[in-house]
Amino acid sequence: MTGHQEWSTPVGERPDPVVETVPDADTLAARAAARLLERLAVAQAEGRVPAVALTGGSVAERLHRELARQSAGSPVDWSRVELWWGDERYVAATDPDRNAGQVRRVLLDDLPVDPARVHEVPASDGPHTTLTEAAAAYAEEVRTHGPGGFDVVLLGMGPDGHIASLFPGYPQLDAEDTPAIGVPDSPKPPPERVTLTFGALNRSRAVWFLVTSEDKAGPAARALRGADRRAVPAAGVRGLAETVWFLDEPAASHLDG
Ligand code: 6PG
Repeated sequence: MTGHQEWSTPVGERPDPVVETVPDADTLAARAAARLLERLAVAQAEGRVPAVALTGGSVAERLHRELARQSAGSPVDWSRVELWWGDERYVAATDPDRNAGQVRRVLLDDLPVDPARVHEVPASDGPHTTLTEAAAAYAEEVRTHGPGGFDVVLLGMGPDGHIASLFPGYPQLDAEDTPAIGVPDSPKPPPERVTLTFGALNRSRAVWFLVTSEDKAGPAARALRGADRRAVPAAGVRGLAETVWFLDEPAASHLDG
């Protein structure tokens, strides 16, 4: 288990990101899914219960469907995987906008996951009737059940360089004293969200970005060149041991060399 002192390693002192460019989004989802199943299986073979932070968005949805397709042939014991979300929309549990709802529909409902190991962000129709209360509850869940950090944090990225629900120039970028925080005014609808903060996202052995399409080529290149995380939040997250940018060719089109 990684010690606390290592988690504090500054992003700039962590291994440089590696870029894996693939032709298209389907290939990206297939490759990332295979890599994730392999990583989970290795952790379990070492006797650990791996923890994964899932993400929302269209590329993540492709990944979830690929995980469902590939899981049949995988040795991964899904009852021994801790599942978290890097961010979630603060809407009703059955709202189609819920990131967790999409994963459950296409993946988890058909797998023997242990409900105690699936850590959903509280929904707006649950016991936490305000965004602030829901964010505080999720922060406490992370502190209590996720002290060892993550094995893999999965992140999509928006055309503005946002990851999870950390948006350029937003105050949540500066949150240092909590692993999760509310975002009442997301520029990407729906407006109310709960997001892990940089501190929580960086408590991961590996960070994998899942990015497709030309409109993200600019922020991807800026993040990889080490942009200020306040301008390009994707630049502010690296794994302690590994950061991989899975890019399709259009998203990789602004990279140097
Ligand atoms: C969300 C996501 C968000 C998403 C990016 C990329 O809940 O909206 O967590 O951060 O990953 O906006 O989304 P696409 O992959 O659909 O471009």
